[in-house]
Amino acid sequence: MQIHELETPTPVVDLDVLDRNLDRMARYAADHGIGLRPHIKTHKSPRVAREQLARGAVGLTCATTHEAEVMADLTDDVLVAYPPVGDARLRRLMGLPARVNLMVALDSAEAIEGLAAAAKEAGRPVRVLIECDLGMHRVGVTSIEEAIRLARLVTERPPLVFAGVNFYPGHIRSGEADRKAPLAQLGQDVRTWLAAFDKAGLKPGIVSGGSTPTAFESHQLPGVTEIRPGTYVYNDREIVSTGAAAREDCAFTILATVVSTAVPGQAVVDAGCKALGREPLRVGAGSGFGELVDHPEVVVKGMSEEHGILDLTSSTWKPKVGDRVRIIPNHVCIVTHLNDFIHGVRGDRVETIWPVAARGRAAKV
Ligand SMILES: Cc1ncc(COP(=O)(O)O)c(C=O)c1O
Repeated sequence: MQIHELETPTPVVDLDVLDRNLDRMARYAADHGIGLRPHIKTHKSPRVAREQLARGAVGLTCATTHEAEVMADLTDDVLVAYPPVGDARLRRLMGLPARVNLMVALDSAEAIEGLAAAAKEAGRPVRVLIECDLGMHRVGVTSIEEAIRLARLVTERPPLVFAGVNFYPGHIRSGEADRKAPLAQLGQDVRTWLAAFDKAGLKPGIVSGGSTPTAFESHQLPGVTEIRPGTYVYNDREIVSTGAAAREDCAFTILATVVSTAVPGQAVVDAGCKALGREPLRVGAGSGFGELVDHPEVVVKGMSEEHGILDLTSSTWKPKVGDRVRIIPNHVCIVTHLNDFIHGVRGDRVETIWPVAARGRAAKV
C-alpha cells in the first residue's frame, strides 16, 4: 500500500527515523554505562517496546496500570513511575503475572502502607523507589529527611523492598545553553541526596532519572544508574524547541488532507483537535498546534474537533483542495493516545501497521 491510499487523518511513523532515534538513545546509554528504562507512555505499543528491549533496555517504565499489563507481556522488569494509590489500582498491579519483578515509585507513607498490605496479601515482593522532587515540583518528597524516613519505612514493610530513588527532571526544558545552570544544580542536588542516603545506611541500588530533553546529558549527573526518556522515540515540536532533537528526528506525523481553501489566508485540513490534541507549546517555544513537514512556516493556528486551520499568511504555498500534508504535533504522547493504530512507512510505502495496545484505561469490571 502507498501512503496516498490511506484515509486521513491518520498517524504515520517514518520507520527509518524511528530506528535512528531508538539506536541513538540505546547507544548513548550503553556508551555511558547507564541503564535505559524507557517510558512507554509515548508509544504505548508493544511493537516499539520490543525494539527498545532488543536494543538493550533494562526494563520498561509505565504510568498506568493498563500500560503495565500490556508491557508485562514483553518484559519481567516493569517500573510503574506513578504513585500506587487506591485499592482498585493496587489490585490490578498485584494481578500482574508473578514472574514480573514489579517496581513502583511513590512519595508518601500512605502509599507505602497501602502497597505493603496489597503486596502481603498477594504474597509478592515489590521493589520501591522513593520519588524525590529535585526541581519539577509535581510529585516527590521535598526534603532529604522525609525521603530517608520513607525509605526506612519501606525496609520495615516486607515484602516491600527498598530499591532506590526516582526523580524526573521535567522542569528542564529550555534550549541547550539555558539548560547548563539547572543541570549543574540538579547534579549538585543528586550528589547531596545520595550522600545523605549513604550516611543513613540506605544506599540506593537504583537512581532513576532522565527525560528526553536532558537524556544526552545524564552522564553529567553523578550516581544516576538509569534513565527513563520516552518522547525520544517519536519526538515532536516541543522536543525540537529544546534542541534535544532536530526537525528531521520527528518520526511521528499526522497525515491530513486539505478540505477547504474557501477563506483567504488559510486552508482547512481534516485534522482537528481530535487528531492533533490541543496542547499549546511552552511560552516562547512557538505558536500553533502543529506545523507542516514540507512547509515549516505553516502552523495549525486553530482547530475545531475535525477541522485544523492552517495559517498561510507567512507562506507562498498555495494549497489546493485534496492536497495531502504531514503535520508534526506539539506533544506527540497526547496524539498517540488518540489513535488505535499507527502506520509505519518507509518513503511512500506503508510497510506495517501496529496497535496502540496500551492506550486507554481498559478498566476491568
Ligand atoms: C516519571 C516520568 N519519567 C519519564 C518521563 C519521560 O520523559 P520525556 O517525556 O521527556 O521523554 C516522564 C514523562 O512524562 C515521566 O512523567
